[in-house]
Amino acid sequence: MGWKMRLPTAALLLGLVLVVTGEEENNPCAHDPLPEEDTVLCKGLEVFYPELGNIGCVYVPDCNNYREKITYWSEPVVKFPGALDGASYILVMVDPDAPSRSQPNRRFWRHWLVTDIKGSDMKTGNIQGKELTGYQPPSPPANTGFHRYQFFVYLQEGRVISLPRKENKTRGSWKMDKFLTRFHLSEPEASTQFMTRSFEDSRPFQAPGGGDRESKNIQTEIT
Ligand SMILES: *[C@@H]1O[C@H](CO)[C@@H](O)[C@H](O)[C@H]1NC(C)=O
Repeated sequence: MGWKMRLPTAALLLGLVLVVTGEEENNPCAHDPLPEEDTVLCKGLEVFYPELGNIGCVYVPDCNNYREKITYWSEPVVKFPGALDGASYILVMVDPDAPSRSQPNRRFWRHWLVTDIKGSDMKTGNIQGKELTGYQPPSPPANTGFHRYQFFVYLQEGRVISLPRKENKTRGSWKMDKFLTRFHLSEPEASTQFMTRSFEDSRPFQAPGGGDRESKNIQTEIT
């Protein structure tokens, strides 16, 4: 017996090792998990985009133009399986990294704000209610690194939520903490985040002077 039995086993093991290392080799389509320090918000919320599925607590993969597609896809399915049937909820989506994580002087960028969401809808991810701020897709400007896109669900409990005209006027520099204090909202019932960066950043050659939606908004809102 001896080596004749062991050879196929060795070949099988070698094959397995090759398969495993091949997969670990930076697969651009993988749903790479966020680093440990960015997982604090991973609490009971799922965010589904077309083609990608749930991207809660992962990076938007850098393949199939996903980082570009997400800049024009409409609102995701946001599912809170732990939602209570009789309750009503508030959904907030923000980017704390506007215009960049290292210099977030336009924090928070309000991407979406919906109130009066029925518990039964929150459970299935069918977000309907009063849209105080319409959905704006993630479109991080080029060369500003990865941005976090954060989702929070609060229990509304009969509160009437509105945005003063001043807050409604702009998305950037939103004082979210003041908003929460004003309506006595403390801990979210559920939350999550994903990260992405400009699709232009992964291209070998960049067209000069190409702007994008978020940076254009910054300019128009400043004026
Ligand atoms: C302002 O209010 C309108 C009506 O509720 C809403 O559709 C719009 O998205 C709001 N704009 C912002 C930036 O929140």
